[in-house]
Amino acid sequence: ECLAAILGLGMCVPERVLTNDDLAQMVDTSDEWITSRTGIRQRHIAEENITTSDLAAEAAKLALADANVHPDELDLILCATATGDYIWPATACVVQRKIGAYRAGAFDLSAACAGFCYGLAVAGAFIQSHAAQRILLIGADALSKHVNWNDRSTCVLFGDGAGAAVLGPNESGQGVLTSVLGANGDGLEMVWLPHGGTRSPLTPELIESSQNKLIMQGREVYRFAVRVIPEAIQQALQKACLTPSQVDWLVMHQANIRIVEAVAERLHIPKERVFINIDRYGNTSAASVPIALTEAVQQNLLKPGQIVVTAGFGAGLAWGVNIIRW
Ligand code: ACO
Repeated sequence: ECLAAILGLGMCVPERVLTNDDLAQMVDTSDEWITSRTGIRQRHIAEENITTSDLAAEAAKLALADANVHPDELDLILCATATGDYIWPATACVVQRKIGAYRAGAFDLSAACAGFCYGLAVAGAFIQSHAAQRILLIGADALSKHVNWNDRSTCVLFGDGAGAAVLGPNESGQGVLTSVLGANGDGLEMVWLPHGGTRSPLTPELIESSQNKLIMQGREVYRFAVRVIPEAIQQALQKACLTPSQVDWLVMHQANIRIVEAVAERLHIPKERVFINIDRYGNTSAASVPIALTEAVQQNLLKPGQIVVTAGFGAGLAWGVNIIRW
C-alpha cells in the first residue's frame, strides 16, 4: 500500500517577540496569569508589512530544501489558513508565485486551527490515490492581525507563524496511516470572525468599535477540546489497529498547555511523549502542528517507525486527528 510520508519540514515565525511582560503594559494582565492559565511565555508577532504568505513561503522553501525537492516537482500546494492575504484568491496561489512552483495546482483549506490536520488527511488521500506525487502542505496564520489588542481574554493567546511539510508516496509503511476529521457547526459562534464576509460586510462603525475582530468564548472552546479530542484520537487509533499505549509522540495543536495535558492524561499518554512548545509561540492556529513537528525533528525526537499522533481543533468547530508512522 502507498502512504503519504513526510519528506521534509520547515517553519518560519516573524522576528518580533512579544513577551507576557510586554502585554502587561498593554492590557490589564500579568505574566503570572498568562503562564499559569495557558503555558504561554512569549509569542512572535508579524510587523504590519509581513503577511501570512510571507511566513508561508519562507516555511515552504525550508521544507522543500529539507526534503530535497525542487519547486518544479510539486503537483499541489495546499495552504491551511484562516488569515489569508486576501479574501480571494487563495494564499496558496500567492505562495506558488513566491516559490516559483508553476507546475502545481494550488488551493486553500479553511479549517482554522485544525487546518494542518485536515490537510494531512487531504494530502494522504491524493497521494494514496496517485492523484499527486509531491504535495506542499502549509499551515500558516497571522492571527495577530485579527485580534482585538484591547481584549485581554484573547490577545494574550495568539502568535503568528507558518509550518510546512512536503509529502510524497512511501511503499514501506511510513506515512499517514489514517485520519479522523470532525466538525460541529452548532459551535460556530464559539470562536469566529463574524464580520468582513458576505453575511456582514465591514462598515466604518464595526471597525470603529473593534467589532471586526476575533471573538471567542474561551471556556467553551476549552471544554469542547478536552471532550472531543481524546475521543477522536481513540477513534483514529482504533482505525489503525493501535492503542494509546503504542503512541510514541503526541503532537497537538498548541492552544493551551492545560488542554494538551488534559488530553494526554485522559489517554494515559505519559508527559515524556507529549511535545510542547507553546511557551515560545502561543497559539499559532494552523501553524502550530507543523511548527511543533519541525522542532521535534530538529531536536531528533521523532525516530523512523515511531507512531506520531497529530491533533488540531478550533473554529468551526472543527477537529482533525492523524496517525502517522514516522
Ligand atoms: N489576564 C488577567 N485576567 C484575565 C485575562 C488575562 N489575560 N483574561 C481573562 N482574565 C480574567 C477573566 O476576566 C476572568 O475574570 P472574572 O472571573 O473576574 O470574570 C478570569 O480571568 C477567568 O477567566 P476565564 O475565561 O474563566 O479563564 P480560563 O481559566 O477559562 O482561561 C482561556 C481562559 C485561557 C482562554 C482558556 O479558556 C482557553 O485556553 N480556552 C481555549 C481557547 C482555544 O483553545 N482556542 C482555540 C481556538 S482558536 C481558533 O480556532 C482560531
